[in-house]
Amino acid sequence: MSNLAVERVLSVHHWNDSLFSFRTTRNRGLRFENGQFVMIGLEVDGRPLTRAYSIASPNYEEHLEFFSIKVPNGPLTSRLQHLKEGDPIVVSKKPTGTLVLHDLKPGKRLYMLATGTGLAPFLSLMQDPHTYERFEHVVLIHGVRTVSELAYRDFITRELADNEFFGEDARNKLIYYPTVTREPFVNQGRLTDLIETGKLFEDIGLPSLDPEHDRAMICGSPAMLKDSCEMLDARGFKISRHIGEPGDYVIERAFVEK
Ligand code: A2P
Repeated sequence: MSNLAVERVLSVHHWNDSLFSFRTTRNRGLRFENGQFVMIGLEVDGRPLTRAYSIASPNYEEHLEFFSIKVPNGPLTSRLQHLKEGDPIVVSKKPTGTLVLHDLKPGKRLYMLATGTGLAPFLSLMQDPHTYERFEHVVLIHGVRTVSELAYRDFITRELADNEFFGEDARNKLIYYPTVTREPFVNQGRLTDLIETGKLFEDIGLPSLDPEHDRAMICGSPAMLKDSCEMLDARGFKISRHIGEPGDYVIERAFVEK
């Protein structure tokens, strides 16, 4: 347990039957970069049961926030979904991860490609003033199956714009493009298809992906990552292969098998 701290749940929010978010206290010594993940979990039968979770809150907040799926019979999430205010939760002391701004080369536009709970690291990055300082436009595409899975919609469309520090940048630079695949919605289809067909760029009024000016961060299922990487590689984008080696894009698997 030496690399784990015990925190307390501050609040829990259920988005629908399969998704929820929760906030915890934060150890004063915990430092992280926006976009990174930590191991979190519960003590079960006297032993810690932990999984990787992207931190959804920015690194200047006093609390930590996490966005989770509820996997029926999942060893951890079937327990985590019953969390209540005041419950203990273990959080590792060593955040890490590849979805960090400093591993992107300079560029004009940043594309954040997320499916499902892969949204989590971008919630942190969208609250980082550096994200807006480094790019002229920041485009968040969130792909989900059903409309009820579009968690944080109000937060992204309203609260970010009202933020006292970066609200003006968010209003001017952030483009939020939610898309749904299995129900009618204003935007429909997989994000990879929307990029390949050019529909995305028609809708948002920006030029098609270009490795000279565009950068990308990707977080989703293994299949989504594979297809997104192939699509970017085919257009000449170079991945950042190691932490500390800047590239045209960075990726992280959304940690869902829980
Ligand atoms: P679809 O409904 O066509 O499978 P999941 O919950 O399975 O992770 O999916 C979340 C979203 O990601 C869904 O909208 C899903 O579309 C989409 N998706 C699944 N696989 C891919 C992929 N290979 N490339 C792009 N989007 C994908």
